[in-house]
Amino acid sequence: MSRVITFGTFDIFHVGHLNILKRSAAYGNHLIVGVSTDELNFSKKNRYPICPQHSRSAIVQELKCVDEVFYEESLELKREYIINYRADVLVMGDDWAGKFDEFKDICEVVYLPRTPSISTTELIEIVKDY
Ligand code: CTP
Repeated sequence: MSRVITFGTFDIFHVGHLNILKRSAAYGNHLIVGVSTDELNFSKKNRYPICPQHSRSAIVQELKCVDEVFYEESLELKREYIINYRADVLVMGDDWAGKFDEFKDICEVVYLPRTPSISTTELIEIVKDY
């Protein structure tokens, strides 16, 4: 049995999010998703997500490919999350390529190509200009 962990904001849930979660799930048989908190996003980007953390995590939790969801409260806690959730594989989109290689001592680290032409930031810009 292999446990997979991945992280993200998953704001204004879109098909790029769905694709990475489905592909992450295929690396094992138990997918754990760290959904970043509203405060963590504010500290990173100086703005809150459009959808609050309880909505974002509720959507992710309902997906067939997802087994477990928790709130990622700090970027500094990745190692603890990987250990505490007993993950064998860490999957991230390739916008993070190389950035999590430090965890190769405790799990396999996989970077998957992003789905082209869609992101939350782009969706916000499109809706703004509509
Ligand atoms: N992701 C993906 N393909 C996309 C968009 C996102 O594979 N087109 C992946 C990211 O690489 C990440 C996960 O989905 O592993 C969650 O990404 P997140 O940052 O929440 O979504 P983005 O749409 O990239 O949001 P933003 O534009 O705010 O960065």
